[in-house]
Amino acid sequence: MADNIHPVFDRMVPRSEREARNGHVGGVFWLTGLSGSGKSTIATAAERLLFDAGHHVVLLDGDNIRSGLCNNLGFSLEDRQENIRRIAEVAKLFAVSGAIVMCSFVSPTRKIRSMAGKIIGLQDFYEVFVNTPLEICEQRDVKGLYAKARRGEIKGFTGIDSPYEAPEDPFLDLRTADLTVEDAAAQLVNTINNQLVS
Ligand code: ADX
Repeated sequence: MADNIHPVFDRMVPRSEREARNGHVGGVFWLTGLSGSGKSTIATAAERLLFDAGHHVVLLDGDNIRSGLCNNLGFSLEDRQENIRRIAEVAKLFAVSGAIVMCSFVSPTRKIRSMAGKIIGLQDFYEVFVNTPLEICEQRDVKGLYAKARRGEIKGFTGIDSPYEAPEDPFLDLRTADLTVEDAAAQLVNTINNQLVS
C-alpha cells in the first residue's frame, strides 16, 4: 500500500448488509470472446432479464468503457492489459457493493483474464466463454472490422494478427453457433441465478 493512503474500507456499510437488502450476493460474470462473437448482445439481453426480475445488475461493456474510462488506451497487449486492470478494479467495487456484474470484453489472453480474476477475487469471478468460431464472427462482421483488418487497415486485430486464447475451463461455455440469443441469455441468467440469487 502506498504511503500516506488511509483506506476506510472497514468503516463502510458492509457488503453483507448490502447483499441482504438486494436479496442476492454480488459477483462478476466475465464474458470473453472474439470481436463479433455476441458478447454485448447476450450481456444486454441478460441484463434486461435480471433488471426486470428486480436484481441490482451492472453491465460493463467494451466499447462503452473504451469511450470513457479507458479512452486513452489502444489495442497493444500492454494497453489491453491496462484496460482490463481498470475494468476489473471497477467490477470489484460493484461486486463488493452487492451488485451482479457482467463484464463483456474480448480480454484475449489467459494472462489478462487471470489478472482480472485475481483483482476481483476468484471467489467472485465466473468466466463465461462466448464461444463463436472466428469464421462465423468474420462472416457476420457486424462492425466491418474484420474486412478492415484483412485489408491491413487495422493492425493487431484479435483473431487476425493478434492472439485470442480460448479459456481452458470456463464456468460457462456458450456455443453460440447452436443457440439463439434468447437461449444464450437464458443460460447465462440461469447460471447467475444459481450462483448469486438465493
Ligand atoms: S480488449 O482486448 O481490451 O479486451 P475490448 O473488449 O475493450 O478489447 O474492445 C474490443 C472492441 O474494440 C472490439 O469489439 C472492436 O469493436 C474494437 N476494436 C478496435 N480495434 C480492435 C483490435 N485491434 N482488436 C480487437 N478489437 C478491436
